[in-house]
Amino acid sequence: MKILVINGSFRRDGNTQRILELFKEEYLFSAKQQHFNVEFETIFLAHENIAFCRGCRVCFDKGEEKCPLKDEVLSVRSKIDNSDAVVLASPVYVEDVNGFMKNWIDRMAFNNHRPAFCGKPAVVIATSGAYSSDHTLKTMIRAFIGWGGVVVAKDKFITGALTAKEDLKKRYAVKIKYLAEKLHKNLTDRKGGYPSLYSLVAFRVQQKYWQKTKNINSFDYTYWRDKGWLKNSCNYYTAHGAGFIKTKAAGFFGRIISQFFG
Ligand SMILES: Cc1cc2nc3c(=O)[nH]c(=O)nc-3n(C[C@H](O)[C@H](O)[C@H](O)COP(=O)(O)O)c2cc1C
Repeated sequence: MKILVINGSFRRDGNTQRILELFKEEYLFSAKQQHFNVEFETIFLAHENIAFCRGCRVCFDKGEEKCPLKDEVLSVRSKIDNSDAVVLASPVYVEDVNGFMKNWIDRMAFNNHRPAFCGKPAVVIATSGAYSSDHTLKTMIRAFIGWGGVVVAKDKFITGALTAKEDLKKRYAVKIKYLAEKLHKNLTDRKGGYPSLYSLVAFRVQQKYWQKTKNINSFDYTYWRDKGWLKNSCNYYTAHGAGFIKTKAAGFFGRIISQFFG
């Protein structure tokens, strides 16, 4: 199994990286005890060549391969494709993700139109100086769900300006263990994940949108059609373990919400 860690922080030994290292150490420790083979790779978005999105919409209309910005976005995307799980982490900057994380999310927007990480599990982490990080988590969670993924656990860590790793460990060992256990459970119990009600509704809303569209020659429509996602019997991107009632409720809410779109 391979876990890809995507850190938005510029600081290679900052709070976010220290929390991520503690997560990795905890995960590797318990994986070893269970003879579970797992490897980690870390990407610092701030140190990848990722230009700002110019809003040309070429990725939406003609495909991401045609993006005029020839940089690392597609190579990061294929690293996610080739991983079994993702950890997304950002420091809080003025109550949201920092600019490196936000720009990368913007550059990945083609994936909101044509979700490609279907059923892939993620853990989402935010570190902050003092308090506000709910919005930061939400930005990353909404992005990853929009890309077809399943967020299995999330948490925020108040870390001040820079806190020693040992202090972070003392303060947050329980939270970190919980995150590692949640991801491990998902990776070992592969029913395709347990998408939230929000994720299932989001799928249905998009499905209804594409079922109603007149633009049937578009890149996005073709993608949805070829995946088989336009059939009413299809209730999510992949097979999943969410319960019958939740799945039915998502279909119901999806139909209602989709009345307001398109
Ligand atoms: C430009 C900037 C803006 C920040 N904004 C906030 C904020 O709104 N709320 C907060 O609690 N902490 C804020 N912080 C503190 C960082 O979120 C915190 O120190 C974080 O753990 C830094 O992570 P890093 O060491 O991985 O870069 C800010 C820090 C910087 C540099």
